[in-house]
Order: sequence, then structure tokens, then C-alpha cells
Amino acid sequence: MDKLRITGGRPLEGEVRISGAKNAALPIMCAALLSAEPLRLSNVPRLMDVATMAKLLGQMGVEVRRDSPGEIFLQAKSIADPTAPYELVKTMRASVLVLGPLLARCGQARVSLPGGCAIGARPVDQHVKGLQAMGATIALEHGYMTARAERLRGARIVMDLVTVTGTENLMLAAALAEGTTMLENAAREPEVVDLARCLTAMGAKIEGAGSGTIRIDGVRSLSGAAFRVMPDRIETGTFLAAAATAGGKVRLTAVAPDSLDATLEKLREAGASIKTGKDEIAIEAAGRPAAVSVRTAPYPGFPTDMQAQFMALATVARGTAVITETIFENRMMHALELQRLGANITMQGTSAVVTGVDRLQGAKVMATDLRASGPTCALRPGW
Ligand code: UD1
Repeated sequence: MDKLRITGGRPLEGEVRISGAKNAALPIMCAALLSAEPLRLSNVPRLMDVATMAKLLGQMGVEVRRDSPGEIFLQAKSIADPTAPYELVKTMRASVLVLGPLLARCGQARVSLPGGCAIGARPVDQHVKGLQAMGATIALEHGYMTARAERLRGARIVMDLVTVTGTENLMLAAALAEGTTMLENAAREPEVVDLARCLTAMGAKIEGAGSGTIRIDGVRSLSGAAFRVMPDRIETGTFLAAAATAGGKVRLTAVAPDSLDATLEKLREAGASIKTGKDEIAIEAAGRPAAVSVRTAPYPGFPTDMQAQFMALATVARGTAVITETIFENRMMHALELQRLGANITMQGTSAVVTGVDRLQGAKVMATDLRASGPTCALRPGW
């Protein structure tokens, strides 16, 4: 779908069943590379990135089947070609997640170095540094990371910064390494915890996922497993932010409210009434929201993947909000698009100062990145 046509001016009413988390499904699919036995996943979202990952794994010789909606069967009896080609990596940076498990399982991997992307440089030096500490040799040849290791060894790895896929890549590799790996300054995102749960179900020995220090005791081999992917906290947050922006009454089911603390707190600050149950959230909002400032940070801080949605909310809020991005250097492109709708936004370095206006006006806008495309269409009565 290349274009969305949205007619604003209505509060949002209704119920949405939230999909499985993209950012959990992608690394979990890569866990299939670590075992010759089947990995049966459920609650897998139907998304282009999931299809791309299925294609990438399929090209390596992994059997990949979509059994029924939301269910994927993966089995890597053997790996014919441990290569992630440029053509796929350039369309999905998360392809780099195959590097660690390929090295651990096959002793070699050839993975295209991801280039730049719309939201910034996004290097993978921490993935490489960690694997080197585990005994891998990695060379850059013709745009590819060519990695080799007899058998990876456990190591103590202190990451220079908090990286989500970096933590996941190293956790995947360490699961089959010889000895103990300690990941320090690890990402604490719920998707890291979900990957650890899946690996544990496959027989891996992992402690501390969800904290800044993860201990992995490598095992010789992993078995198959059946695993249900966690709900998508960013999709959940996006619907909640839409309801808080446009007003209305929305119920979201199949969610994980515990993974959304920072987002829920900010929505309440904006004046929305929110009720959470075990696996559902109901939101009610009326009138213009109050301005709320946010500053992105690694989990449990406010997620960068919710930054654009809160900028959209701020464009129609009562008062002025400061939206600060600290994770990616170029993730404010949506500000320019929101200005085309009549938003009052001034850029100050890595912050956007947004003063709410009473009404936005419909206009043609561009979806600058995945997370920004929903909220750039933020609906507000009066468009
Ligand atoms: C993941 C999420 C993405 C989210 C991001 C931050 C997936 C598939 N994607 O992306 O939706 O926006 O976390 O929550 O899970 N960095 C380095 N060197 C590295 C690795 C990262 O400098 O080796 C930097 C990045 O450029 C960025 C910061 O670290 O500035 C955080 O990036 P990272 O957590 O790695 O993001 P991703 O894992 O790519």
C-alpha cells in the first residue's frame, strides 16, 4: 500500500486486537538458525519485515512455512549458505541479526554491512566488537562482514552503548558458545526478554534478561520449541496516542500493559483516562490533550519508536511541549511533514519545540519512517 487517504474530523471509537511484536518476532525467527529441530512460532505479525526475514532464512536453506495466520514453522536442519545478501539487508537492517547465530552454528557467516538508513547512521560496531571478544575474526570484504570462528567462546562484553539488536545478536551467539558470556550494559527492552524466553524454551541457559547484565551459559546444542511472540507495545502505544490526540474511546486487546509504563504515564499526563487489565487497555479522551514533553531513552525510558506519535499529539495540545530525541541523530523528519499540516514546530538541535494549535489542516504528506507514518496522519476533530 503506497498511499493512505485520511479524512479527519472524527473522534476514534472501537476495538483493536494488537498483533505480535515485530521487534520480538525478527530476532526470534533468527533463533531457528541455532537448532536442527523445528521452531513453531505463533502470534507472528503479518508484515513485510517478517516476510523479508522468512525469505532471508529460506535462502540459507531453512525450511520456512506459514502454517495458519500468525503461525510460522521454521526448521534449519542444515544451513546451505550462511550469507545475508546486500539486496535483503538494505531493505531490512534487522537482517544483521543472523550474524551471531550463523557464526555460532556454522562457524562462518557472510553478512552485508547495513548502509545508512532514514533515521541515521546506525552502525553495527558493537555487534562486531562483541563477536570478536568471543573469538570471531571479522573482516570487511566488498561490503560484506566475513566472519569466522572455530567455536565461539564465552566472554565478558561491556557494550559502549545500549543497543537492542546488538544485545540480541550476542545473546543468540552466546547460547551455543563454549562457556559463560556476561553481557554488561545490555538492552533491557521487553523484546530482549522475549527472545531470552524463546531461547530458554529451546534449552539455552540465560539469566538476567531485562536487566543491564545478562549471563549466558553456552550449551552444545539447542532443541526445537513452540513459542508465542509477545504483543507489539509500539503498535499498542500508537493506537493509544491516536485516541489521546483525536479524542474518543478505544479498547485494545491482546496487549502487554506492563511493557508500556513510560508511554501510559505520558498519556495520563496528557489528560487521557486509561484503564489496564491483564491483557487489555481502554483509553478515553475528550477535548484537546495537555502538552507533554518527552525525552527518548533506552527501556524503561520513553521509547524512540513512540517519539513521532507524541510529536503529533503535541501539535494539537494545549500549551508547548519539548520533544527530545537522544537515540537516533536524524529521527525528526516527521516534524517537517507535520508543519505541512499547519503544526507550529521549531527545531532546536535534537529537540522539537511544539506549540499546539486548535486545528490542523489536511495536506499531502510523506511517511518518513515506519513509526512516523501513522501519527503524521494524526486525526483531530476540525480538520
Ligand atoms: C531497535 C529496534 C528499533 C528501535 C531501536 C531503539 C529492532 C528490530 N529495531 O533497533 O525499532 O528504534 O532498537 O529502541 O528491534 N548503535 C551503535 N553501534 C551499534 C549498534 C547501535 O552506535 O553497534 C547506536 C545506533 O546508531 C543508535 C543506538 O545505538 O544510535 C541504539 O540503536 P539500537 O538499539 O542498536 O537500535 P536497533 O537495534 O537497530
